[in-house]
Amino acid sequence: MKIALIPGDGIGPEVVDQALRVLTKLHPEVETTEFDFGARRYHATGELLTDADMAALREHDAILLGAIGDPSVPSGILERGFLLKLRFLMDHHVNLRPSILFDGVASPLANPGTIDFVVVREGTEGPYTGNGGALRVGTPHEIATEVSVNTRFGIERVVRDAFARAQARGKKLTLVHKNNVLTFAGSMWARTVDEVGKEFPEVATDYLHIDAATIFMVTDPARFDVIVTDNLFGDIITDLAAAVTGGIGLAASGNIDATGVSPSMFEPVHGSAPDIAGQNLADPTAAILSVALLLRHLGDVDGAARVEAAVASDVASRGETRGSTTEVGDRILALV
Ligand code: IPM
Ligand code: MN
Repeated sequence: MKIALIPGDGIGPEVVDQALRVLTKLHPEVETTEFDFGARRYHATGELLTDADMAALREHDAILLGAIGDPSVPSGILERGFLLKLRFLMDHHVNLRPSILFDGVASPLANPGTIDFVVVREGTEGPYTGNGGALRVGTPHEIATEVSVNTRFGIERVVRDAFARAQARGKKLTLVHKNNVLTFAGSMWARTVDEVGKEFPEVATDYLHIDAATIFMVTDPARFDVIVTDNLFGDIITDLAAAVTGGIGLAASGNIDATGVSPSMFEPVHGSAPDIAGQNLADPTAAILSVALLLRHLGDVDGAARVEAAVASDVASRGETRGSTTEVGDRILALV
């Protein structure tokens, strides 16, 4: 197993260290290559993600990323120049974001019920493509456009992936969009769900506008099994999903090229949290759960289940005191 490690900025290196300990316990044969992408390298060399970097990353079975982002770099540079470029060039079209409310974890909801759903967020299209521009910048007549790009091919592949996941779990798929306003893309999403759904007659489908979906995410999150949605709606709804399941410290994600041509990338949903970086304070659980997603993707279903069970048992026993980054790592490592 060859894994590319991108510890990145802020708390990234600390949480990746703990995730790697868990991975190595289950797979002592793992070979890792560390890449120094992020703010430090950008300041030193001006480089974000070169062709040579891409080629080197492609030599691996999967990528484990901590976090990228630093206040010393203007907003958008690392996001577009590194993270989104990587997701796009690797064709990570399935952005997989599971949400589980583990026993013993406090939800901000009064009556959360049983929360166990997965958001399949489209990862390579929508408003994220950078298809837009600005005219007359800085003048009173400035115009800015951000064009959402939606292709039948791109929608169909992610919808089919979401149906397959629904088929393998609760057999319910909810399309989240805004087809009362975004009628062109919304219609294509809805028609694609109807058509692909014929291949999955056991899966019940349902539709929610994104605004209504945020209400149900708070009032009745137990209703969801698999959600499929556009890149931007998926970004927003998965932060809300993380919040209702105990916070961003527990939310893991996978950026998957379901064709297997490119290595898929696994990362916590949280960012680099520069305010607490280097202090052994960050919760490494999301990074460790990202290892579970990585293992399942590479076919080690047992290993993935062991990591998830270890996390479930650790969070159940945490109470008020989670402990430091390394303490959480030690405990989960002992339970795996
Ligand atoms: C995420 C992040 C990224 C996104 C940013 C950092 C570009 O918010 O992974 O959810 O919007 O996809
Ligand atoms: Mn986000």
